[in-house]
Amino acid sequence: MNTQEIMNVALQLAGMACVPGDSSIYYPGENIRRILFAVDVGAGELFIASERGFDAVVSHHPPRGAALPLWEVYQRHVGLMVEAGVPQDEAQQAVAGTIANMKTAYQAGNHEHFPSLCRLLSIPFMNIHGPLDERGRQIMQAALDESQVETVGEVMEVLGALPEMSCAHSQVSLVAGSPSHRVGKVVVAHGCLTNGGYAVADTYFRHGIDTVVYIHVSHQDGERLAREGRGNLIVSGHIASDLVGINPFLRALSARGLEVVALDGAQSETYQGEK
Ligand SMILES: [Fe+2]
Ligand SMILES: [Fe+2]
Repeated sequence: MNTQEIMNVALQLAGMACVPGDSSIYYPGENIRRILFAVDVGAGELFIASERGFDAVVSHHPPRGAALPLWEVYQRHVGLMVEAGVPQDEAQQAVAGTIANMKTAYQAGNHEHFPSLCRLLSIPFMNIHGPLDERGRQIMQAALDESQVETVGEVMEVLGALPEMSCAHSQVSLVAGSPSHRVGKVVVAHGCLTNGGYAVADTYFRHGIDTVVYIHVSHQDGERLAREGRGNLIVSGHIASDLVGINPFLRALSARGLEVVALDGAQSETYQGEK
């Protein structure tokens, strides 16, 4: 396989037609048989991979400073909100501030750091973020829809029963609301680069979606949502939730004959449900 074919496996899993703005190939490679996968990759992981004879490194999170239009993926919050019934202009307002910050932050990035490091080490390197988070979102949302959950507590139980969650160091937790609250509509707001913070959750709550799932949120935003008491916010746990989308991708690569060595708790073979 080559790096583009590896990217295509992820796009296909997520049902995406093109590479989103949070994923990229920094140094392409051909004839790849053995890859090192990690949720986070820095210079150390690239060096280990080149020393240990890996053909390529695949990261989930974008490498620090990468030249990526991350805000294009954050914009996906708007699509999810509109699909759930939020008016387009209010959805857009909820992401506007964060998108402006991301565009400003782009100018501060050390964009050539990782491409130049890969050239020096001659190690192919890519990151795949949005497609794997989108796959994870689909799996989590489908688990909730199929279970026909009625209370916030049941939402937490269904998420907590996913294999990646049940063996995680983190816990599915309730940041705002109560386990006994009835669930009307529940939205898993994942696959949009990062959580939507106070503004996105609050916008859902004000438009008839009373339960939102984030994979993580800041203490400050969670506390404010809890204090205002408009809805229920569940946090499913960052890396455990990332793994929900990552593991099927690694299994798909293994099925195509790639040898995958995975760090950070990811599983490349048929998932056993325990570490
Ligand atoms: Fe993540
Ligand atoms: Fe992720």
